[in-house]
Amino acid sequence: MSDDVQVPVEIPGASYVVHVGEGLLGSAGELIAAVSKARRIALVTDTTVGELFGIGLASKLVTAGFEVFPLSVPPGEKSKSWATAGELVEAFAEEGIGREDLVVALGGGVIGDLAGFAAASYLRGVGFAQVPTTLLSQVDSSVGGKTGVDLAAGKNLAGAFKQPAIVIADISTLASLPGSEWASGLAEVAKSALIDSEGFTAWVETNSGALRARHEAAAQDAVVRSVTFKSKVVRTDERDEGVRECLNYGHTLGHAIENVAGYGAVPHGIAVAEGMRFAARLSVEVAGATREFVRRQDKLLDGLGLESLKAAYDPDDLLSAMHSDKKARGGRIRFVLSCEPGVWRCEAVSDETVREHLEAWAASKKGV
Ligand SMILES: NC(=O)c1ccc[n+]([C@@H]2O[C@H](COP(=O)([O-])OP(=O)(O)OC[C@H]3O[C@@H](n4cnc5c(N)ncnc54)[C@H](O)[C@@H]3O)[C@@H](O)[C@H]2O)c1
Repeated sequence: MSDDVQVPVEIPGASYVVHVGEGLLGSAGELIAAVSKARRIALVTDTTVGELFGIGLASKLVTAGFEVFPLSVPPGEKSKSWATAGELVEAFAEEGIGREDLVVALGGGVIGDLAGFAAASYLRGVGFAQVPTTLLSQVDSSVGGKTGVDLAAGKNLAGAFKQPAIVIADISTLASLPGSEWASGLAEVAKSALIDSEGFTAWVETNSGALRARHEAAAQDAVVRSVTFKSKVVRTDERDEGVRECLNYGHTLGHAIENVAGYGAVPHGIAVAEGMRFAARLSVEVAGATREFVRRQDKLLDGLGLESLKAAYDPDDLLSAMHSDKKARGGRIRFVLSCEPGVWRCEAVSDETVREHLEAWAASKKGV
């Protein structure tokens, strides 16, 4: 693959390019200068990512002619808060960030969502660029323009649509990523492949060893394929009013597991993979999927090292967590159901059916 594969995201009035390659931080200054008239840049990161890549990126931006104001928050989901977004916009004002200036998010999905939300609010919207440094943020969260923060009542409950002017996904930054964060990204790759097509799914099956071993060429290909898929979805449904719901495959049970287990207790990728295993089994009854599809998906997830959970959680607790998810509509739990790669639909499933399947799922974990 080339050092800079460019994937266009075509959204009326807000199109941009996702650059994917090894060592792209080195040319980030010129890439950003080519799409922005900014003079000043607020460079938002977390302390972990800041230590790894902050000075390097800031120096490239300065060389390209920008005045750079680094802003750093503690790593982790706790920073995706209304209070931290408030501190950021206050800091933008203190530094004199103007209407034509730019906010650059350097980090994982937390930083992208938080900095994007601050950029969308400040002066009713200033320019924004994403430099994602986790596999999850490169394959998924940096593309599509959803930004936001968590509230006490739940995750992502306040937010705005804010498309970036550019996304720069430097595959080389992924080398320092902890294993559990790698797994989170792989679960989103698997989701994208299964929802997208037979071709992408077969590619993951063939390359699961290389992906698990974190080979850069395979990672770059996975990011390009996932971004191409997400770009197709958001082009059709920028505002999450229809097909974008497919991106939730595996997340109905996945989010409930994370909630019931206590955030952080089950890695996000493992929870989503378990959710995909569950959704496929549910699809056999509700959507006519075959047992062969369930076996194929299990094998694909196993091949990526996304092992199935050894223990279950209480079906009642999971059911109530699913009801509190903002994606439940009119009191009904919705699932993305999949019959075969590339063939899916979203459906409200009755509590009785969900409970029955959760009980079967819990029983299957006994004696594992
Ligand atoms: N906007 C969207 O469309 C969308 C989609 C999916 C998920 N999300 C959001 O994304 C967030 C999760 O993102 P995430 O998984 O990237 O988590 P994250 O941003 O918390 O990053 C995970 C951890 O990895 C560290 N890290 C980041 N890059 C690193 C690197 N290169 N080397 C070493 N450590 C590094 C971070 O400091 C952090 O501790 C959630 O808040 C979720 O809601 C948003």
